[in-house]
Amino acid sequence: MSSTTSPYLEGNFAPVHEEVTAEDLEVTGSLPEELDGRYLRIGPNPIAPDPATYHWFMGSGMVHGVRLRDGRAEWYRNRWVRSADVAARLGEPSVEGPSTKGATFSPNTNVIGVDGRTFAIVEGGPKPFELDERLDTVGPCDFDGTLPNGYSAHPKVDPATGALHSVNYYWARPGVLEYTVVGPDALVVHHTEIAVPGSPMVHDMAITESHAVVFDLPVVFSLEDATSGASFPYAWDAAYGARLGVLPLGGDGDEVRWFEIDPCYVFHAMNAHDVTGADGHERVVLDLVRHDRVFDQHRLGPDEGLPTLWRYELDLVTGGVSATQLGATTQEFPRVDERRVGRPYRYGWATSVAPTGTGGVDFDGAELVCTDHSTGAEERHVFGSGRAAGEAVLVPRHADADEGDGYLLTFVYDAATGRSDLEVLAMADLSGDPVAVVHLPVRVPFGFHGNWVPS
Ligand SMILES: [Fe+2]
Repeated sequence: MSSTTSPYLEGNFAPVHEEVTAEDLEVTGSLPEELDGRYLRIGPNPIAPDPATYHWFMGSGMVHGVRLRDGRAEWYRNRWVRSADVAARLGEPSVEGPSTKGATFSPNTNVIGVDGRTFAIVEGGPKPFELDERLDTVGPCDFDGTLPNGYSAHPKVDPATGALHSVNYYWARPGVLEYTVVGPDALVVHHTEIAVPGSPMVHDMAITESHAVVFDLPVVFSLEDATSGASFPYAWDAAYGARLGVLPLGGDGDEVRWFEIDPCYVFHAMNAHDVTGADGHERVVLDLVRHDRVFDQHRLGPDEGLPTLWRYELDLVTGGVSATQLGATTQEFPRVDERRVGRPYRYGWATSVAPTGTGGVDFDGAELVCTDHSTGAEERHVFGSGRAAGEAVLVPRHADADEGDGYLLTFVYDAATGRSDLEVLAMADLSGDPVAVVHLPVRVPFGFHGNWVPS
């Protein structure tokens, strides 16, 4: 029996239908003068989806942005990323450019700034799309001819070099993952292939100062689903097994060392770092949000259980693995101070996660939860009745500020008004009132990832 509704088209998951430009936005509180740049976030915003088959991961991308400068919120904009199908539906000519074997998709998963350019990105094969300063589509992009196939939604930026490390995959290239390094000039500087036993969906990866960590987990491409027209051709396959791979940072695919783990799925790592134990053994410490399983019985959404934070330690001498749950708080969309990526770190924060009550999972939650890894303590920001937020991004007060000394930015949906705000929270007073709230004239649907792109 087909469903006529989808939890991912209801409430604030529902797409918006207008592209809006709003200038000189109303602000409650005081916007810190240090905030000079754009807060950008992207998510799926399908055009005329079929509720019976709509998959949350497959909606066309829409980017939302707020420009802050001199204590003012200069503008809010939302724009669809104009892949060929989006352009056609909007009655516009499509923008020509590189594609992966002719395939085009409107990236919906992350939006990043590199070398003064803005890119909307997605995994699974499609090319990135470049956007301009005001979020209009420039066109599909292969990093000036250097990106051989598709890209990832989760490049990790090494704070020492500014290089973007990612693991990419493409359903039409079974048995192969690609480890790609893009330089701070937005050109691919390293590309190597990693052999895997099948066609896993690989959403994220992790880096340390000297290693890259690859996730080879049991959500795999299903030819049967793809050929039968399923809206999302990846499914849980416990028989595939589960492995974490470690290779030297910037190393080659044949250098990967694999560590078997219990089957689970990981969309997002919080962070990773190298450590030498009291026993003299080098280890990779990997903190991640672990789902027991996804896309097994419920194929249209990752909603088979609630994810929690775990720490894995991979012993590079013995090959041993330890896995420890770091508390019972259900959470997703973990982030850290970007200056601590791949390093020992103290603070990691995420969004609280709960069931929707209509068969889905609210990945945009009522609380932001920050774990202090030095003590295990959690501090929370509660957004208030009827309010829910997604991923939060830190903007340090200045380049040399201590870890976590800065502001957390996130879009917050208010069910009572049907609109969203950009909230600016001080990390130093996380549980307190926001430093500033930028009021948007519209709502920002629940989406995926974003970043602060300084001027
Ligand atoms: Fe993600």
